[in-house]
Amino acid sequence: MFETAVRKEIDENRQGEALIIEKEGRKPAAGRLLYIESYGCQMNFSDSEIVASIMMDMGFTTTGNYKEADVIFINTCSIRENAEQRVRNRLKEFGASKLRKPGMVIGVLGCMAERLKAKFLEEEQLVDVVVGPDAYRDLPNLIGRLDEGEKAVNVLLSREETYADVAPVRLGGNGVSAFVSIMRGCDNMCSFCVVPFTRGRERSRDPHSIRREVEGLLENGYREVTLLGQNVDSYKWASETGAEAMNFAGLLEYVAEVSPLMRVRFSTSHPKDMSDEVLEVMSRHENICKYIHLPVQSGNSAVLDRMNRTYDRAWYMNRVEAIRRIIPGCAVSTDIICGFCSETEEEHQDTLSMMDHVKYDFAYMFKYSERPGTLAARKYEDNVPEEVKSRRLKEVIEKQQQHSRLRMEQQLGKVQKVLVEGPSKKSDQDLCGRNDQNAMVVFPREEGIRPGDYVHVLAERCTNATLIGKLVQ
Ligand code: SAH
Ligand code: SF4
Ligand code: F3S
Repeated sequence: MFETAVRKEIDENRQGEALIIEKEGRKPAAGRLLYIESYGCQMNFSDSEIVASIMMDMGFTTTGNYKEADVIFINTCSIRENAEQRVRNRLKEFGASKLRKPGMVIGVLGCMAERLKAKFLEEEQLVDVVVGPDAYRDLPNLIGRLDEGEKAVNVLLSREETYADVAPVRLGGNGVSAFVSIMRGCDNMCSFCVVPFTRGRERSRDPHSIRREVEGLLENGYREVTLLGQNVDSYKWASETGAEAMNFAGLLEYVAEVSPLMRVRFSTSHPKDMSDEVLEVMSRHENICKYIHLPVQSGNSAVLDRMNRTYDRAWYMNRVEAIRRIIPGCAVSTDIICGFCSETEEEHQDTLSMMDHVKYDFAYMFKYSERPGTLAARKYEDNVPEEVKSRRLKEVIEKQQQHSRLRMEQQLGKVQKVLVEGPSKKSDQDLCGRNDQNAMVVFPREEGIRPGDYVHVLAERCTNATLIGKLVQ
């Protein structure tokens, strides 16, 4: 009875739902079903957990099957043309479901929503709601408007929003490792990049709320957190009175001190800001993983200048040298863009020689994709032919494969401390987890070992991406 009455009131007046929940002290028994799918960077996946939390407070339940959902959210990425294309293709599939299930709501969230704004509603007729990354608190209102038959858009960016007080609902994780967002937005203006336009100004989250979130995760059995920001090294927080302030080195230490059992990772570091102070904190704390993602983009100073990265080849090499000096054995990974505007063959060779110099453990490698509205789109011509971009990318990938292999081989014969994540992808007779340097390690299952345990594994064999070994005491 209760359920029917509530449903009716909700359907007649969605705005009333929050009131009903508060009045009755409980959520409507059978909430509507939400399906949420995420694209792009870890920050988008982390945002989806905020969105799920806000929607569940409204009485929604999440489902893994979009065909049965009442609301489908797609949290989108604009970083490259093909990322947007993938979203549009997926929207077609969701649209087909909507035609079979009238009343279904399709919402576009995240960076593509921010980039295209209300234009999205014209371009994709089956989309009902468009919500930018700083507007998720407005979802109850937006969903309410939909229920009254309107389409709804909120793409306002904020200078303050960090969702510090929203407890994320962990979606699809392994129960061992979680993302914790420490800042939002980006104040750098790399000429190729759309992020400052889609995510707005940089702002840092209150360190106490970050630490509380990590403590909560520890209590719930999590053993690894990854602190997320577009440029974690520029984390900068001050209390309102100014009496208390913290930089990234301070935050890292503050979080590492939660428990020696909790591993701490972070991403992404920016070469221009990565300080020795941060490296020293890393070397002092056993539970801060010895792994740094330090995107180089190009090994050539003139290209870096056109990219507006604000460091040059020598500066980057100096930062790598500092890592090697202060944290021996630290793994380093990177991002590389091939075929940026006017990139010459010599400039490309400098990227290859930078790779030889650093011998990255891992790399994400891309062809340059011009993004509308960016500095590069306005100032430079996207003039490296497609086949040249492809060939350069292929050379970069081949080199990286050799280096990944080399880095793996260097671990053979050594004992790895592994945080167990669960069964390996290939066989449930094996377990897997990551070592300190972020390499995946696979080993035979043994009675009594559970996800979240730390074990020691002697690395005996490897592929380019995985160490294979046996348990040791
Ligand atoms: N904040 C991070 C990067 C975020 S975007 C940093 O500054 O390093 C992730 C990666 O996507 C970038 O490092 C870059 O290598 C790549 N990327 C960004 N814009 C791109 C574009 N227009 N074309 C191709 N790759 C791009
Ligand atoms: Fe984009 Fe540069 Fe900001 Fe990274 S630092 S998000 S590449 S503008
Ligand atoms: Fe993509 Fe936005 Fe992240 S453009 S990479 S989802 S910040």
